[in-house]
Amino acid sequence: MASAQASGDPAAAPNPPKPYRPPAPTPRLRPLGILALIGALRHNALECWAAEHFERPIVRVPLPIGHAVLVHEPAAIRHVLLDNAANYRKDALQRRVLSAGLSDGLLSAEGEQWHVQRRTLAPMFARRSVMSFAPAMMEAAQALAARWARHADGATIDVAAEVTRLTLDVLERTIFSDGLGRDAEQFRLAMTAYFNSIGRISPLDLMGVPDFVPRIARLNVRSSLRFFEAAIDTMIAARRARLAANPADVPRDILTLLLDALDPETGERMTAQEVRSNILTFIAAGHETTANSLAWSLFLLSQSPAWRERVEAEVDREIGSPIEGLADRLTVTRAAIEEAIRLYPPIAAISRVATAGDTLGGEPLRRGSLVVIAPYVLHRHRRLWDDPDVFDPGRFLGDARKSIDRFAYLPFGAGPRTCIGSAFALQEATLVLAVIMSRFTLTLAPRHAVWPLLRVTLRPEGGLPMTVRLRNARAQQAG
Ligand code: HEM
Repeated sequence: MASAQASGDPAAAPNPPKPYRPPAPTPRLRPLGILALIGALRHNALECWAAEHFERPIVRVPLPIGHAVLVHEPAAIRHVLLDNAANYRKDALQRRVLSAGLSDGLLSAEGEQWHVQRRTLAPMFARRSVMSFAPAMMEAAQALAARWARHADGATIDVAAEVTRLTLDVLERTIFSDGLGRDAEQFRLAMTAYFNSIGRISPLDLMGVPDFVPRIARLNVRSSLRFFEAAIDTMIAARRARLAANPADVPRDILTLLLDALDPETGERMTAQEVRSNILTFIAAGHETTANSLAWSLFLLSQSPAWRERVEAEVDREIGSPIEGLADRLTVTRAAIEEAIRLYPPIAAISRVATAGDTLGGEPLRRGSLVVIAPYVLHRHRRLWDDPDVFDPGRFLGDARKSIDRFAYLPFGAGPRTCIGSAFALQEATLVLAVIMSRFTLTLAPRHAVWPLLRVTLRPEGGLPMTVRLRNARAQQAG
């Protein structure tokens, strides 16, 4: 098995950077018992992991709701997510927590409905289509930079909140490119309320209590969801009318692409409900994840002067060049993001349930077993990475990158249910990071201790207060 080397490109980096080990919980000496585990899962699921999970390829765990197997071995992961994927469905807990009622959207659909949607939606997230969204991503980045530039030089801002606002802005510009209409502010407020209240794992979920038993946190969400659905339906209806009247005059944003999308096999369109569910799904799946990638990248670069300088040199050279292919030319910037989501994968665990018995890692696996593949553990696994806890974007540059096993690095999952938005997310994060790095120097606020907190996504606990200073005049003009 290939292992990921922490080598980098020595020719390009004459002074190898001092190794930086960013904050992370020290793995426990022994795995937690079941009651302590439930408590820890609620508080910060990242603090549950024990040393043996980072050392052994497969660990079996007895649970009150059955049997769990923690799988952190590339060949076994490939078996579950790709070769025998048909035997492993998404488990109800993850679907419930992540998709919060978006049952007709791609993230939570299963079986034939998922197949049809995936092939219908695939062209929308293919490379060419994603590249057509680059100008909207740049405009959102410039808007953020303009907002920051208006703060006093040296002001402290919550960078995590700022980049979350930015990723929503990007989705707004790429899905509804002609704006949210009269109720824009109310729409944004309902959206924020909705996404803030989903995502807490209810103890009822962990006990396996069925869906029809209401979860208090979710009751509060219903009115936001209803407002949302109505607002999106209005926008769908208005766009349909425009498409019927004069298709040439309609923007080619995600809304139009969704309404126009045809199943390549049957030629059928999606229902209005599926279009709406997928809009909500893209917002749910795409905003916090991408925001966390940006927040962690900015934090890590602020702690690693050598890598910050390399990223600055690259963005100073490239930022004014044509937008066509820009994200592809920003290789060091992108490597910093890939390394950030290795250390802090926004989706820190992926889970599946075996629908029939199987053999995994040479041992029998019972039907109904819960299979947990945690990118957080996999990406720091002692058998797979050199200096796994060290920040080193060099792993993702040149030949070093080629030695990373496809199934040892899973920020976007793998197999048929791999993230459909990965190219979108990486392009967005690269362009936005480049704009920010070209214009500002960010320093962590004094006395703020950064800590990773796993609440649906892996985010910096309590936000990311940073002092923002303008860089030099040349960079200002380029931005
Ligand atoms: C850095 C940002 C992102 C990360 C780390 C991420 C991660 C993931 C992961 C790990 C999965 C697979 C889950 C599993 O197998 O159980 C997934 C699925 C998915 N993601 Fe992303 N994602 C990101 C951004 C986005 C964006 C921007 C969008 C859409 C605009 C998106 C839409 C989806 C959808 C629809 C699925 C379900 C795909 C399917 O089941 O066919 N994601 N994502």
